[in-house]
Amino acid sequence: MIQLENKTALITGINGQDGSYLAELLLDKGYTVHGTVKRNSVAETQTSRLSDDVYKQLDLHYADLTDLASLIHVIRTTRPDEIYNLAAQSHVRVSFDQPLYTAQATGVGVLNVLEAIRQVSPQSKIYQASSSEMFGNNIDTDGYQRESTPMSPVSPYGCAKVYGYNICRNYRNSYDMFISNGILFNHESPRRGTNFVTNKVAKEAVRIKKGLTDKLVMGNMDATRDWGHAKDYVNAMWLMLQQNTPDDYVCATGVSHSVQQLVDYVFDRLDLDPEQHVTTDKRYERAEELKHLRGDSSKARDQLGWTHTYTFDTMMDEMVDYWMEHFTTGNI
Ligand code: NAP
Ligand code: GDD
Repeated sequence: MIQLENKTALITGINGQDGSYLAELLLDKGYTVHGTVKRNSVAETQTSRLSDDVYKQLDLHYADLTDLASLIHVIRTTRPDEIYNLAAQSHVRVSFDQPLYTAQATGVGVLNVLEAIRQVSPQSKIYQASSSEMFGNNIDTDGYQRESTPMSPVSPYGCAKVYGYNICRNYRNSYDMFISNGILFNHESPRRGTNFVTNKVAKEAVRIKKGLTDKLVMGNMDATRDWGHAKDYVNAMWLMLQQNTPDDYVCATGVSHSVQQLVDYVFDRLDLDPEQHVTTDKRYERAEELKHLRGDSSKARDQLGWTHTYTFDTMMDEMVDYWMEHFTTGNI
């Protein structure tokens, strides 16, 4: 029998990739789920990742991480047991174009959330969406990054996330607040923005297969990433807030692939030759690149009992199948 939780959660950035999966997970567990959305000029697409069934079970509130008053208002209104701070300007290359906004939203925005909670609802447990981008190009001698790996970020996004990570640890120690950082490696799904590399490749390769386009223009093909599935990773977020004490955890699959291997896998699955379609252009490169990511999530496995269920192949297959269905039926 499933035990229902009877708790209230608030998810910032509920309409993002992770927010949508986490909302489904928490609703399944019996939570009352509130979420924040920031104002968008096209109301119709604002909640496109939330199915009608999920949407009608949620309470949504307008708030922006750069607007402390809006955060105080939503936390005072909802009084959540658990707060999952997922909202951020989350695109690394865009953070080079918008460094100040990224610092405000992704960095100082975390402080705004913490202050709002400290002032209004200090008993709430907090999850902070920290990132493997914080490590920059530091790798331990065995080839992995883990909780103890030094952080030397190589993007404005990574710098902002390090600030968010550190201010969480500082508030945890200073004010005895329950705040856990999930240091999550890249996680993907059919709901991933199509300007991130996995879903860009999956979507464009299917469009080539369908004769809708002929070329896929890429950036750096040599970088490697440890790619997991968002559904697995939102489960880790929930587990972190069910512990008796707050802590910081790496979540990763421990397996990495290069961007070239990603392209080869998807094209091979669609029986396409990448050499005939794929070119590169500097506009998709970053001013400074994070070259390799591969995570060791032993701590999350041992202390949270967390593990991933998707492999790189099953995850990419799901994304390719999603786009095949989309461009065949137009029905998704
Ligand atoms: P995402 O799809 O880009 O979602 C980000 C969410 O934040 C969206 O709902 C977005 O709203 C909202 N948002 C952006 N700026 C905001 C602001 N100033 N105020 C309030 N809301 C704002 O990102 P994701 O992949 O779900 O990732 C969730 C979190 O985990 C992010 O903090 C990300 O940095 C972090 N993270 C992600 C990964 C990964 O691989 N996915 C790995 C490590 C850490 P709009 O859609 O309306 O803009
Ligand atoms: N987006 C994109 N587009 N990336 C490309 C392309 C392209 O055309 N061509 C090559 N890449 C390379 C990037 O240079 C990077 O090395 C890699 O593909 C992955 O890029 P993204 O999918 O944009 O993700 P990311 O690793 O920069 O950032 C994601 O993961 C972080 C965790 O490590 C984001 O989700 C961040 O929010 C997250 O914190």
